[in-house]
Amino acid sequence: MVRAAEKAARTLVRDFGEVEQLQVSKKGPADFVSSADLAAEKAIRTELSKSRPDFGWLMEESGKGGPANARSRWIVDPLDGTTNFLHGVPHWAISIAAETDGAIVAGIVYDPVKNELFWAERGQGAFMNSTRLRVSGRRSLEVAMIATGMPFKGRASGPNYTAELDLVMGEVAGVRRFGSAALDLAYVAAGRFDGFWEYGLSPWDTAAGLILVTEAGGFVREVGGGTNPVFGSSILAANAELGRPLGDLLRRANDKASGSAPGAKAARG
Ligand code: IPD
Ligand code: CA
Ligand code: CA
Repeated sequence: MVRAAEKAARTLVRDFGEVEQLQVSKKGPADFVSSADLAAEKAIRTELSKSRPDFGWLMEESGKGGPANARSRWIVDPLDGTTNFLHGVPHWAISIAAETDGAIVAGIVYDPVKNELFWAERGQGAFMNSTRLRVSGRRSLEVAMIATGMPFKGRASGPNYTAELDLVMGEVAGVRRFGSAALDLAYVAAGRFDGFWEYGLSPWDTAAGLILVTEAGGFVREVGGGTNPVFGSSILAANAELGRPLGDLLRRANDKASGSAPGAKAARG
Protein backbone atom coordinates (compact mmCIF):
# COMPACT_ATOMS: atom_id res chain seq x y z
CA MET A 1 0.00 0.00 0.00
CA VAL A 2 2.80 2.39 0.89
CA ARG A 3 4.64 1.59 -2.32
CA ALA A 4 1.50 2.22 -4.37
CA ALA A 5 0.81 5.50 -2.56
CA GLU A 6 4.41 6.67 -3.02
CA LYS A 7 4.23 5.97 -6.75
CA ALA A 8 1.00 7.93 -7.11
CA ALA A 9 2.39 10.70 -4.91
CA ARG A 10 5.35 11.25 -7.21
CA THR A 11 3.09 12.00 -10.17
CA LEU A 12 0.59 13.99 -8.11
CA VAL A 13 3.27 16.20 -6.54
CA ARG A 14 4.69 16.96 -9.98
CA ASP A 15 1.19 17.72 -11.32
CA PHE A 16 0.41 19.87 -8.27
CA GLY A 17 3.37 22.06 -9.19
CA GLU A 18 1.85 22.51 -12.67
CA VAL A 19 -1.58 23.30 -11.23
CA GLU A 20 -0.12 26.14 -9.19
CA GLN A 21 1.10 27.66 -12.49
CA LEU A 22 -2.25 27.09 -14.21
CA GLN A 23 -4.25 29.17 -11.68
CA VAL A 24 -3.82 32.30 -13.75
CA SER A 25 -4.71 30.75 -17.12
CA LYS A 26 -8.20 31.41 -18.52
CA LYS A 27 -8.96 27.77 -19.14
CA GLY A 28 -8.09 26.83 -15.56
CA PRO A 29 -6.66 23.54 -14.40
CA ALA A 30 -9.85 21.37 -14.24
CA ASP A 31 -9.12 19.00 -17.17
CA PHE A 32 -5.52 18.76 -16.17
CA VAL A 33 -6.50 17.76 -12.63
CA SER A 34 -8.95 15.09 -13.72
CA SER A 35 -6.26 13.45 -15.83
CA ALA A 36 -3.80 13.70 -12.89
CA ASP A 37 -6.42 11.98 -10.73
CA LEU A 38 -6.92 9.17 -13.27
CA ALA A 39 -3.18 8.67 -13.76
CA ALA A 40 -2.68 8.41 -9.98
CA GLU A 41 -5.41 5.81 -9.67
CA LYS A 42 -3.94 3.80 -12.54
CA ALA A 43 -0.51 3.82 -10.87
CA ILE A 44 -2.07 2.62 -7.62
CA ARG A 45 -4.12 -0.10 -9.29
CA THR A 46 -1.13 -1.42 -11.23
CA GLU A 47 1.05 -1.57 -8.13
CA LEU A 48 -1.59 -3.15 -5.89
CA SER A 49 -2.69 -5.71 -8.49
CA LYS A 50 0.93 -6.72 -9.02
CA SER A 51 1.48 -7.46 -5.34
CA ARG A 52 -2.00 -8.95 -4.58
CA PRO A 53 -3.52 -10.31 -7.79
CA ASP A 54 -6.23 -12.11 -5.78
CA PHE A 55 -7.68 -8.87 -4.34
CA GLY A 56 -10.63 -7.06 -5.86
CA TRP A 57 -11.01 -3.27 -5.68
CA LEU A 58 -13.42 -0.41 -5.22
CA MET A 59 -11.86 2.76 -6.59
CA GLU A 60 -13.35 6.20 -6.98
CA GLU A 61 -12.53 6.54 -10.68
CA SER A 62 -12.67 2.95 -11.93
CA GLY A 63 -15.41 1.57 -9.66
CA LYS A 64 -15.56 -2.10 -8.69
CA GLY A 65 -13.34 -4.75 -10.28
CA GLY A 66 -10.98 -7.65 -9.84
CA PRO A 67 -11.50 -11.38 -9.48
CA ALA A 68 -15.06 -12.55 -8.77
CA ASN A 69 -15.48 -13.92 -5.22
CA ALA A 70 -12.35 -12.15 -3.92
CA ARG A 71 -12.41 -12.18 -0.09
CA SER A 72 -10.34 -9.03 0.08
CA ARG A 73 -10.40 -5.77 -1.82
CA TRP A 74 -8.72 -2.39 -1.92
CA ILE A 75 -10.80 0.72 -1.35
CA VAL A 76 -9.01 3.66 -2.97
CA ASP A 77 -9.33 7.38 -3.40
CA PRO A 78 -6.29 8.42 -5.48
CA LEU A 79 -6.80 12.10 -4.66
CA ASP A 80 -8.89 13.23 -1.72
CA GLY A 81 -9.18 17.00 -1.53
CA THR A 82 -9.51 17.58 -5.28
CA THR A 83 -10.92 21.07 -4.87
CA ASN A 84 -7.89 22.07 -2.78
CA PHE A 85 -5.57 20.49 -5.37
CA LEU A 86 -7.37 22.32 -8.17
CA HIS A 87 -6.93 25.65 -6.41
CA GLY A 88 -3.29 25.09 -5.53
CA VAL A 89 -4.04 24.61 -1.81
CA PRO A 90 -1.53 22.11 -0.37
CA HIS A 91 -3.97 19.96 1.60
CA TRP A 92 -4.87 16.72 -0.17
CA ALA A 93 -4.05 13.05 0.22
CA ILE A 94 -4.07 9.55 -1.21
CA SER A 95 -6.29 7.13 0.69
CA ILE A 96 -5.98 3.33 0.45
CA ALA A 97 -7.72 0.75 2.65
CA ALA A 98 -7.73 -3.05 2.65
CA GLU A 99 -11.01 -4.80 3.39
CA THR A 100 -11.27 -8.52 4.16
CA ASP A 101 -14.59 -10.33 4.63
CA GLY A 102 -16.34 -6.98 4.88
CA ALA A 103 -14.09 -5.50 7.60
CA ILE A 104 -11.46 -2.80 7.12
CA VAL A 105 -8.18 -4.38 8.21
CA ALA A 106 -5.58 -1.79 7.19
CA GLY A 107 -5.43 1.73 5.85
CA ILE A 108 -3.11 4.53 4.86
CA VAL A 109 -3.70 8.22 4.25
CA TYR A 110 -0.66 9.86 2.67
CA ASP A 111 -0.11 13.61 2.49
CA PRO A 112 3.04 13.85 0.37
CA VAL A 113 3.26 17.65 0.51
CA LYS A 114 3.73 17.56 4.29
CA ASN A 115 5.50 14.21 4.18
CA GLU A 116 2.95 12.71 6.57
CA LEU A 117 2.08 9.05 6.11
CA PHE A 118 -0.75 7.97 8.41
CA TRP A 119 -1.12 4.19 8.60
CA ALA A 120 -2.88 1.57 10.69
CA GLU A 121 -3.40 -2.15 10.79
CA ARG A 122 -6.08 -3.96 12.77
CA GLY A 123 -4.77 -4.80 16.22
CA GLN A 124 -1.38 -3.13 15.57
CA GLY A 125 -2.13 0.52 16.32
CA ALA A 126 -2.04 3.67 14.21
CA PHE A 127 1.06 5.65 13.25
CA MET A 128 2.18 8.84 11.53
CA ASN A 129 5.48 7.98 9.85
CA SER A 130 7.10 6.13 12.76
CA THR A 131 5.25 7.88 15.61
CA ARG A 132 2.42 6.05 17.38
CA LEU A 133 -0.89 7.92 17.26
CA ARG A 134 -3.45 8.45 20.01
CA VAL A 135 -6.66 10.43 19.76
CA SER A 136 -6.76 13.60 21.86
CA GLY A 137 -7.45 13.56 25.57
CA ARG A 138 -9.79 16.58 25.61
CA ARG A 139 -12.91 15.80 27.59
CA SER A 140 -15.04 18.84 27.09
CA LEU A 141 -16.61 20.24 23.91
CA GLU A 142 -15.81 23.79 24.95
CA VAL A 143 -12.08 23.17 24.42
CA ALA A 144 -12.54 20.96 21.36
CA MET A 145 -11.60 21.68 17.74
CA ILE A 146 -14.13 19.98 15.51
CA ALA A 147 -13.73 19.41 11.77
CA THR A 148 -16.58 19.03 9.32
CA GLY A 149 -17.34 18.78 5.63
CA MET A 150 -19.82 21.34 4.37
CA PRO A 151 -22.26 20.51 1.60
CA PHE A 152 -21.48 22.05 -1.78
CA LYS A 153 -23.05 22.25 -5.22
CA GLY A 154 -24.33 18.86 -6.31
CA ARG A 155 -23.89 17.29 -2.87
CA ALA A 156 -26.87 16.50 -0.67
CA SER A 157 -26.30 17.42 2.95
CA GLY A 158 -27.58 15.97 6.19
CA PRO A 159 -31.07 16.57 7.47
CA ASN A 160 -30.37 20.06 8.87
CA TYR A 161 -26.71 20.78 8.32
CA THR A 162 -26.87 24.52 8.94
CA ALA A 163 -28.76 23.98 12.20
CA GLU A 164 -26.07 21.48 13.24
CA LEU A 165 -23.25 23.85 12.34
CA ASP A 166 -24.97 26.70 14.12
CA LEU A 167 -25.30 24.75 17.35
CA VAL A 168 -21.82 23.19 17.22
CA MET A 169 -20.16 26.59 16.52
CA GLY A 170 -21.61 27.97 19.71
CA GLU A 171 -20.46 25.06 21.87
CA VAL A 172 -16.85 24.34 20.81
CA ALA A 173 -13.50 26.13 20.65
CA GLY A 174 -13.39 26.06 16.85
CA VAL A 175 -14.84 24.45 13.72
CA ARG A 176 -12.64 23.72 10.69
CA ARG A 177 -13.43 22.78 7.07
CA PHE A 178 -10.14 21.74 5.52
CA GLY A 179 -11.52 19.92 2.45
CA SER A 180 -10.14 16.38 2.68
CA ALA A 181 -12.26 13.92 4.61
CA ALA A 182 -9.43 11.35 4.64
CA LEU A 183 -7.09 13.87 6.30
CA ASP A 184 -9.87 15.05 8.65
CA LEU A 185 -10.09 11.49 9.96
CA ALA A 186 -6.30 11.10 10.08
CA TYR A 187 -6.14 14.32 12.12
CA VAL A 188 -8.72 12.94 14.58
CA ALA A 189 -6.49 9.84 14.91
CA ALA A 190 -3.49 12.11 15.50
CA GLY A 191 -5.28 14.11 18.22
CA ARG A 192 -5.14 17.32 16.16
CA PHE A 193 -8.90 17.45 15.75
CA ASP A 194 -11.10 16.25 18.62
CA GLY A 195 -13.99 15.30 16.35
CA PHE A 196 -15.30 15.32 12.78
CA TRP A 197 -18.66 14.88 11.10
CA GLU A 198 -19.86 14.87 7.51
CA TYR A 199 -22.74 13.59 5.35
CA GLY A 200 -22.76 12.02 1.91
CA LEU A 201 -19.21 10.66 1.80
CA SER A 202 -18.23 7.52 -0.10
CA PRO A 203 -16.35 4.45 1.18
CA TRP A 204 -13.10 5.58 -0.50
CA ASP A 205 -13.22 8.84 1.51
CA THR A 206 -13.59 7.13 4.89
CA ALA A 207 -12.38 3.48 4.85
CA ALA A 208 -8.72 4.18 5.62
CA GLY A 209 -9.61 6.97 8.07
CA LEU A 210 -11.94 4.65 9.97
CA ILE A 211 -9.19 2.21 10.90
CA LEU A 212 -6.80 5.06 11.72
CA VAL A 213 -9.25 6.50 14.26
CA THR A 214 -10.23 3.12 15.68
CA GLU A 215 -6.64 1.99 16.10
CA ALA A 216 -5.77 5.32 17.72
CA GLY A 217 -8.42 4.62 20.38
CA GLY A 218 -11.21 6.78 18.95
CA PHE A 219 -14.94 6.56 18.31
CA VAL A 220 -16.45 6.19 14.81
CA ARG A 221 -20.18 5.88 14.11
CA GLU A 222 -22.83 7.28 11.83
CA VAL A 223 -24.25 10.60 13.08
CA GLY A 224 -27.44 8.89 14.27
CA GLY A 225 -25.43 6.21 16.11
CA GLY A 226 -25.47 3.57 13.34
CA THR A 227 -22.45 1.30 13.17
CA ASN A 228 -21.71 1.32 9.44
CA PRO A 229 -20.20 4.76 8.79
CA VAL A 230 -18.08 3.70 5.78
CA PHE A 231 -21.06 2.46 3.77
CA GLY A 232 -23.75 4.57 5.47
CA SER A 233 -24.70 8.14 4.66
CA SER A 234 -22.88 9.95 7.47
CA ILE A 235 -19.83 9.70 9.69
CA LEU A 236 -19.01 11.02 13.13
CA ALA A 237 -15.53 10.41 14.51
CA ALA A 238 -14.07 11.71 17.75
CA ASN A 239 -11.97 10.81 20.74
CA ALA A 240 -13.72 8.28 22.93
CA GLU A 241 -14.93 10.92 25.42
CA LEU A 242 -16.42 13.34 22.92
CA GLY A 243 -18.12 10.99 20.44
CA ARG A 244 -21.36 10.78 22.37
CA PRO A 245 -21.63 14.45 23.43
CA LEU A 246 -20.97 15.53 19.84
CA GLY A 247 -23.58 13.06 18.55
CA ASP A 248 -26.08 14.35 21.15
CA LEU A 249 -25.43 17.91 20.05
CA LEU A 250 -26.10 17.05 16.39
CA ARG A 251 -29.29 15.20 17.31
CA ARG A 252 -30.41 18.15 19.42
CA ALA A 253 -29.84 20.49 16.45
CA ASN A 254 -31.89 18.24 14.17
CA ASP A 255 -34.72 17.81 16.68
CA LYS A 256 -34.88 21.54 17.22
CA ALA A 257 -34.84 22.31 13.50
CA SER A 258 -37.54 19.75 12.73
CA GLY A 259 -39.66 20.92 15.65
CA SER A 260 -39.54 17.61 17.52
CA ALA A 261 -37.63 18.89 20.56
CA PRO A 262 -39.56 18.57 23.80
CA GLY A 263 -41.75 21.63 24.11
CA ALA A 264 -40.98 22.86 20.56
CA LYS A 265 -44.58 22.42 19.40
CA ALA A 266 -45.95 24.15 22.46
CA ALA A 267 -43.49 26.99 21.94
CA ARG A 268 -44.69 27.41 18.35
CA GLY A 269 -48.26 27.57 19.65
C1 IPD B 1 -14.05 15.17 -1.11
C2 IPD B 1 -13.29 15.58 0.13
C3 IPD B 1 -14.05 16.66 0.88
C4 IPD B 1 -15.44 16.23 1.21
C5 IPD B 1 -16.15 15.80 -0.06
C6 IPD B 1 -15.40 14.67 -0.74
P1 IPD B 1 -12.72 14.40 -3.30
O1 IPD B 1 -13.38 14.14 -1.83
O2 IPD B 1 -13.08 14.49 0.99
O3 IPD B 1 -13.43 17.00 2.11
O4 IPD B 1 -16.15 17.30 1.80
O5 IPD B 1 -17.43 15.45 0.27
O6 IPD B 1 -16.12 14.25 -1.88
O7 IPD B 1 -13.84 14.72 -4.24
O8 IPD B 1 -11.78 15.51 -3.15
O9 IPD B 1 -12.07 13.08 -3.59
CA1 CA C 1 -12.64 11.83 -1.74
CA1 CA D 1 -11.08 11.79 -5.09
